[in-house]
Amino acid sequence: MIIETLSTFPEMFDAVMSASIMKRAQEKGYLDFCAYNLRRWTHDKHRTTDDDPYGGGSGLVMKCEPIFEAYDALIGKSDSAKDDEFVPPKFADSSIKPHVVFLAPFGKKFDDKCALELSKQERLLFVCGHYEGIDERAFALADEIVSIGDYVLTSGELAAMVVIDAVVRKIPGVLGADDGALLESFADGLLEYPQYTRPASYRGMDIPEVLVCGDHAKVDEWRRFQQLKRTLAMRPDLLESAHLSDADLRYLVSLGKEEQ
Ligand code: ADE
Repeated sequence: MIIETLSTFPEMFDAVMSASIMKRAQEKGYLDFCAYNLRRWTHDKHRTTDDDPYGGGSGLVMKCEPIFEAYDALIGKSDSAKDDEFVPPKFADSSIKPHVVFLAPFGKKFDDKCALELSKQERLLFVCGHYEGIDERAFALADEIVSIGDYVLTSGELAAMVVIDAVVRKIPGVLGADDGALLESFADGLLEYPQYTRPASYRGMDIPEVLVCGDHAKVDEWRRFQQLKRTLAMRPDLLESAHLSDADLRYLVSLGKEEQ
């Protein structure tokens, strides 16, 4: 998969994309990542990417021209960048059109399903806003607009990194041979069960005995019930759309009775 980003602080991606799973995904050839600086497609001395809002008000609005010009360059249509050191966009010759995702607080709320859908794209372009927002006309380029939650970040890059991480780990093979099993955690709509590792006893806290009983069926049942218990306590809304068996429902009812 190709992932490109357009923003004013592309260096923000360096740490995240050069560590851990994101690094390995690139080394193993699952991901080709390029972060572009929008300033490349500005033409004034100060390389301005934002301006005062029409109609007045505080804050600056990101200009739409650099975004349109960058997009044209990324798809190999025309390149208005004038910098001598400018390296043409890596995939400008690609026949694959990017699926364009804008990050904005008013976008569709990002979730596991959305991550899975995006992971099926061959080429993704994330456009990250800053300051008070982006000139509305730029959204004409958007295939979708995504929000990572009901709060406002100062930087769309942070939101893009969250989305990229969740998407890349969905690419088959990225998490390793066993990734099918690893990915199931949210797929059934429940929260994760608690995990433990050595030592078995620490500061008076012991691991649940069932985990060392050697009976895999018992361990599986315990884990499933823990998932249900945690989901009921932390995110009861998820239970409405989770796939629940009769045994799950009986357990949930028993939890309800315990509380009374
Ligand atoms: N930019 C600023 N806040 C954001 C959010 N919550 N989601 C996506 N992009 C953003």
